[in-house]
Amino acid sequence: MSSRRQFLHRVVAASAGLAVADPLRAAFDPLLRIPHRTTLGTGSTEEVRRLRAEYFLDDAILYVNHASIGTVPRAVHEAHAAALRLCETNPWLYMWGGEWEAPREEVREGLARLLGAPAEAIAITHNTTEGFNQLAAGLDLGPGDEVVFTELNHAGASVCWEHWSERAGFTVRRIPFPVEAAPDMAPEDVAAVHLDAVRPETRVLVFPHVDNRIGVRHPLRLIADGAHARGVEVVAVDGAQSAGMIPCDLDASGVDAFAGSPHKWIQAPKGLGLFYLREELRERLRPTWVTWGQAQWDGTVRRFEDYGTRNLAAVVALGDALDVQDALGGDAKLQRYRSMHARLLDAVGATAGLSWRSPRRWDAGASLVAIGFDAHSAPAVGSELLREYGVVLRSFGARPDALRISPNVATTDDELDVLIELLAAAAG
Ligand SMILES: Cc1ncc(COP(=O)(O)O)c(C=O)c1O
Repeated sequence: MSSRRQFLHRVVAASAGLAVADPLRAAFDPLLRIPHRTTLGTGSTEEVRRLRAEYFLDDAILYVNHASIGTVPRAVHEAHAAALRLCETNPWLYMWGGEWEAPREEVREGLARLLGAPAEAIAITHNTTEGFNQLAAGLDLGPGDEVVFTELNHAGASVCWEHWSERAGFTVRRIPFPVEAAPDMAPEDVAAVHLDAVRPETRVLVFPHVDNRIGVRHPLRLIADGAHARGVEVVAVDGAQSAGMIPCDLDASGVDAFAGSPHKWIQAPKGLGLFYLREELRERLRPTWVTWGQAQWDGTVRRFEDYGTRNLAAVVALGDALDVQDALGGDAKLQRYRSMHARLLDAVGATAGLSWRSPRRWDAGASLVAIGFDAHSAPAVGSELLREYGVVLRSFGARPDALRISPNVATTDDELDVLIELLAAAAG
């Protein structure tokens, strides 16, 4: 068949609901061979150097800001580019014609495997903020009800509650977190901060799985069980800094809702989100946006993801990102993250003038650490590191005054060593 006739055949077949040849696979076949290069092996210095070459990051900068904005490996970029191109060959077919329905469901299943949850519990949204907005707007909270979170809760998971509390009449209580004590905290201490705050009127407890300032890992099961036992109805977790970095095991964790941004630690294209809802909430939560798709998806989690046209090419490429993460291996990644945490912790301990502001224990920490200076304010040092040496990181001026370092799985030991030297020089 000529390519024009093949094209026509595909369109006619799709609109008649017939099975069509799989143009997606044809387009992606060359790309599916790419992930084998993105392995981590034992995580040796050499292997990580090879992995690092799979990313586009500019060699002139030292990028340790994956907690802000992640980056995709070449395989994912190429898959995304191919999907965008394919879409433009017949936009209707791919966007509305159903051609990417099956790949989208595969992506949902991939997310489900990563998160330890059934596929029917996961919506593919646009970012973490969207998930929390849906919760704040869609729960039936009113006068007499309370939502609680600590000062470590990110704005993306906080502002929506404050906004809706004014309209719906519920209360938001933001409590302090013992930031100064964080270096010595164990998971039980982290849980106690939240559980001690619960009162009879607390209906929703919100917390980050890993917070974005000092990288405290919150023990999901301990907090969820304790909160439910104290009468909390909805335990809502911000997974922006954990999904793809550390195990989530959502179904076993007992949490009710979990939202994340896959561009960070799943290394997916930007503008995608994941949103987990336990069954009871899937039925109870009112969708924020309503349109024709909603009726079609009634009773499913897709009520929370479809509200008009969206970039399905990015959704398809999320599947490639999940493939790459699979090829890297959950255990191998975890080991790599743990070893970087240890390398930085040791270096800070051995350097006069630097102080560690994150949990020392790996089971209470993450690949996101805060390092302060005894004699300088961190933002001033951060600006100089960027200007003079191209170091890209995040600075905080208070609670704590620290530089936040967030290496990803492909950050090399060489890069960390350069960073440590620069920090030591700044501290001196
Ligand atoms: C812990 C945490 N929650 C939420 C967000 C907001 O993410 P998004 O802008 O993708 O919604 C971020 C962004 O850095 C974050 O670190």
